[in-house]
Amino acid sequence: MSIILGIESSCDETAAALVTSDREILAHKLAGQEAEHAPYGGVVPEIAARAHAESITPLIDSALEEAGLTLSDVDAIAATAGPGLIGGVMVGLVTGKALAMAADKPLVAVNHLEGHALSPRLVNPELAFPYMLLLVSGGHCQILLVNGVNQYRRIATTIDDAAGEAFDKTAKILGLGYPGGPKVEEMARSGNADAVPLPRPLTGSAEPHFSFAGLKSAVVRAFDTGKYKKEDIAASFQQAVVDCLQDRLEKALRDNPPVGQLVVAGGVAANGPVRAMLEEVASKNDMTFTAPPLWLCTDNAAMIAWAGAERFAAGLTDPLDIAARPRWPL
Ligand code: KG4
Ligand code: ZN
Repeated sequence: MSIILGIESSCDETAAALVTSDREILAHKLAGQEAEHAPYGGVVPEIAARAHAESITPLIDSALEEAGLTLSDVDAIAATAGPGLIGGVMVGLVTGKALAMAADKPLVAVNHLEGHALSPRLVNPELAFPYMLLLVSGGHCQILLVNGVNQYRRIATTIDDAAGEAFDKTAKILGLGYPGGPKVEEMARSGNADAVPLPRPLTGSAEPHFSFAGLKSAVVRAFDTGKYKKEDIAASFQQAVVDCLQDRLEKALRDNPPVGQLVVAGGVAANGPVRAMLEEVASKNDMTFTAPPLWLCTDNAAMIAWAGAERFAAGLTDPLDIAARPRWPL
């Protein structure tokens, strides 16, 4: 059994966690930056990097304290090395490197997307490779075939915005503030999803990819007419996203050899109607469906520690001079 310290700082959550290779979560700590970014309606990279720098060391200390451990008890240090806002990624990665050097522990540089992709295995020991993964977050919208640790095949990606970004922009248009996803979902509950005609970009197309930019522009136009209730715009927008995700996912399932398991990860996996659609698609295709608990769907360090545990077990560690990467496709 090994113990991994995970560090995450690629967007607007600073996080530290201790996870064992036996799937025990010894501690997970998170410091959000919502208040800092709220006045700007989105994440400001420079503010994010400064906030990470302020909270990362106290968070790691409090995770170790909660687990009753010291750094010498840890077997490896896993830190997100990208993709993400480079200032923030560097704060977490440099901290990981410094601790690895000081305590003479191996460093595991984790791709943030791999953290999301493997996170369902942390809570579901039965989830074996391969599985089909819908990764839907604020920065990414992808369908991946996860064949094993370090073995990912990207089937589809977005050609413009990510689904979560579309939720955040819609929230901004509707004056709901940031972060927008949960607020749009809440408002959509009292709206009519058929009230506002909105496009479903790329649905039915022969290429496998996603697109959400046109949907966002259509939301702006609908809002500007002044004809529609905000609740109806929220509900119609959310339904359009669900329809896009479903169409592209079903295409991926048709075009590829059958896989027995469907998995969702990323912040948008917290969305109730998205989950309901995925359950339905899985059952129609004789697949099991795994959705991690909500806290594990949004950014956190337990998923980085777990990806670190999987990589460490596979003998994949990294040199201390490894670079942080703003872009890093899986
Ligand atoms: O995975 P995540 O925490 O960060 C990224 O790596 O991007 O995902 C955050 C995204 C945000 O865009 C947020 O609005 C969206 O996930 N989100 C939701 C919900 N909760 C979070 N979108 C729709 N419905 C939700 N309930
Ligand atoms: Zn993420």
